[in-house]
Amino acid sequence: MAAADKKVFIKTYGCQMNVYDSERMTAALGAQGYAPTDTAADADLVLLNTCHIREKAAEKVYSELGRLRRLKSERPGMLIGVAGCVAQAEGAEIIARAPVVDLVVGPQAYHRLPQLLARRAGGERPVETDFPAEDKFDHLPEAPKARRAPAAFLTVQEGCDKFCAFCVVPYTRGAEVSRPAARIEAEARGLVERGVVEITLLGQNVNAYRDGEGTGLAALVRRLAAIDGLARIRYTTSHPNDMDDALIAAHGDEAKLMPFLHLPVQSGSDRVLKAMNRRHRAEDYLRLVERIRAARPDMALSGDFIVGFPGETEADFAETLSLVETVGYAQAYSFAYSARPGTPAAGRPGVAEAEKSDRLQRLQAVLARQQAAFQTAQVGRTLPVLVEKPGREPGQMTGRSPYLNAVHLAAPGDLAGRIVPVRIVASVANSLAGELAA
Ligand code: SAH
Ligand code: SF4
Ligand code: F3S
Repeated sequence: MAAADKKVFIKTYGCQMNVYDSERMTAALGAQGYAPTDTAADADLVLLNTCHIREKAAEKVYSELGRLRRLKSERPGMLIGVAGCVAQAEGAEIIARAPVVDLVVGPQAYHRLPQLLARRAGGERPVETDFPAEDKFDHLPEAPKARRAPAAFLTVQEGCDKFCAFCVVPYTRGAEVSRPAARIEAEARGLVERGVVEITLLGQNVNAYRDGEGTGLAALVRRLAAIDGLARIRYTTSHPNDMDDALIAAHGDEAKLMPFLHLPVQSGSDRVLKAMNRRHRAEDYLRLVERIRAARPDMALSGDFIVGFPGETEADFAETLSLVETVGYAQAYSFAYSARPGTPAAGRPGVAEAEKSDRLQRLQAVLARQQAAFQTAQVGRTLPVLVEKPGREPGQMTGRSPYLNAVHLAAPGDLAGRIVPVRIVASVANSLAGELAA
């Protein structure tokens, strides 16, 4: 088979950083003669870009590998690779447990994919989980100069030095590393040339961004805001302790910085926060939210919560509910604690499963009510909406409000990539319905 006839299917799990990495791997494999396809059924190479954050996420990989094993028995030449955070955490164990796997590659070694494929062709089953000193993005080709969707992710920082007691990320992604601002600016300019108008800067601890020349996230945002044609900037995910004055100020006066902030707090109980090694109190978080809202009164806040962390009592949980009531979230994610191998909290006596799911349901009811209230408050307003792609129904397009709400509206397809005024007419489930305003 000619090299150019080969196809790769990448299935992406987990966070936005995996989405970005999958794009870069697609580009790298394109240079090796692999065209992307959107189904495993006709792929010569299937890569699972995996997530290890909770047990359920990690286990999904093995059920997918079970399905792929049947597919591969019909198409023996097919290659199966495991990438992402499960690859980093489990390494060679993956091949021991699922012998159908041909190669394993951790998140910092994607630029070595061509060598790994060559080693596989030579009969090896390579497992690459090094943290190389070089920046993988310097060695991964960028996507071809084709037109792109209007909103894009751009990784600016990777890894985490925080070591929250429940979290695998410091182990799977390694220490915090920031990419040079000049590289990021060049990549952003390239994206804008290809039709991108909104960029979300990604990092596991994005607001800890600081490049070798001392550029912090606020300065990076201002540098990118100077790019003509780039209309919107977002960033995620932030740790409360790294939210500095310069960044808060940028939310007040940098018009391209969108009024939406994902700022996880995990718990409202100081006792639990301490056991989680979050290194701040509930009060610190509430003061921070006040300062952010003083700079940007309409800031929409999002968060992450863990319920049933080891040692969490009903009284601790009540403090989480109370913090949520005080903050008022536009939307949020909440999870039942999942013990992860190798993390400090893994060996601690846990909260009963029934208790965890009861607390999760109660928290999610409050968060759902807040989200509905936030969305209902948008009804009647006219908001600038970035039109992104066709909606579910014919003649419909979908876009995003400044607050990251999905907005559906009747509009011609050629509005994609434009920011248009939209009158919000209704709040429907997890999105808004709107009409083009004159
Ligand atoms: N760097 C980001 C994202 C971490 S993972 C941050 O600091 O927020 C995303 C979310 O998953 C976390 O915020 C946390 O709420 C949740 N999470 C992480 N580990 C978990 C675990 N062991 N059990 C349940 N939820 C977890
Ligand atoms: Fe995990 Fe905590 Fe780091 Fe976020 S800050 S990635 S939750 S260790
Ligand atoms: Fe999952 Fe790794 Fe992202 S564990 S959340 S894919 S950093």
